[in-house]
Amino acid sequence: MADGTKSPLLQPDTLGDSLPLRNRICMSAMTRNRCIDANKPTPASAKHYAERARGGTGLIVSDGVCVFLHGLNWPHIPVLYKMEHADAWKRVTDAVHEAGGTMFMQVWHAGRAQNEEMSMLKSASRSNERTDKHGSSVLNRCRFLLSVVDDIVAIWGAAAVGIKICPTDTLNDTASPYSEISETYTFLIAELVKRGVGYMNLSRRGCGEGVTRPAGTELPVGYEPLQEFGPMIKCTGSTTKLMVNEGYTVAEAEELVKHGRIDMVCFGRPFMWNPDVVYRIETGVSFAENDRGDHVMYGPYREPGENYNDWPSALEA
Ligand SMILES: Cc1cc2nc3c(=O)[nH]c(=O)nc-3n(C[C@H](O)[C@H](O)[C@H](O)COP(=O)(O)O)c2cc1C
Repeated sequence: MADGTKSPLLQPDTLGDSLPLRNRICMSAMTRNRCIDANKPTPASAKHYAERARGGTGLIVSDGVCVFLHGLNWPHIPVLYKMEHADAWKRVTDAVHEAGGTMFMQVWHAGRAQNEEMSMLKSASRSNERTDKHGSSVLNRCRFLLSVVDDIVAIWGAAAVGIKICPTDTLNDTASPYSEISETYTFLIAELVKRGVGYMNLSRRGCGEGVTRPAGTELPVGYEPLQEFGPMIKCTGSTTKLMVNEGYTVAEAEELVKHGRIDMVCFGRPFMWNPDVVYRIETGVSFAENDRGDHVMYGPYREPGENYNDWPSALEA
């Protein structure tokens, strides 16, 4: 930390009672369109993740990995529904484990946010006017998510399941009136805590200064989901760890961990251009900035390592 004491982000933690993490710093899921081998991760992917594990990251979350390649117009995203896909991912996780890291896969189905040309599917689901068991009441609208969680927990155990929730998000027409956000996530969080999932990653995308929300979905002045939902995740008896993300600085996260308001922080973009995020936090070296432009995120690139595995560490810079 700036004052020379050890950052609270470097304290170890455990998901559930069974999954130890070496610190509280997580690499956020970032889909980078680098899976040029028939949607399988390549040696460049293994190198990318292993380097970040070697850098000391507590938990790494993979690219969003599609459970079926259906109606998607994203190029070179990873999929996992055949043994050959699992084998390719195992080469990545083996490299991460060898570097002392822990890695989760982000399970992705694009749902209604798929190919732009599938406009019928989009408009049919946009208005959320279903009257079957997946529509109308809060319970019904949470039913699908909870049944997916239950099925995954039955296989892997609750500690190994994390879930990212973005109550205030506006992307893909998800902006909701505040009263609906409050009611829905109060219910959903209680259900997830009951199941003892390892962590909830609470994103604050869609709120804060400079964000314009669609009419009717305005938030109370100064609203942050952490104020309302944080205590519900960290309530008495909860074994679910609270991770936050979206635009956090190291100092902000340190302050929140120090005061017991969160357990972990998740950084996204800094991990793209800093292979050594944890080293920098340990030594008080600030994160490098991206000085190459936004194309480094998704491409184009001449080979998959370009703007992916060629960022210097603080020691090399
Ligand atoms: C290139 C890129 C790809 C992303 N892909 C995903 C994704 O597949 N799944 C996901 O949950 N979030 C994705 N995100 C969002 C990040 O996980 C993270 O929530 C976001 O970057 C905010 O964190 P930050 O401010 O620390 O960057 C992506 C972000 C970027 C920049």
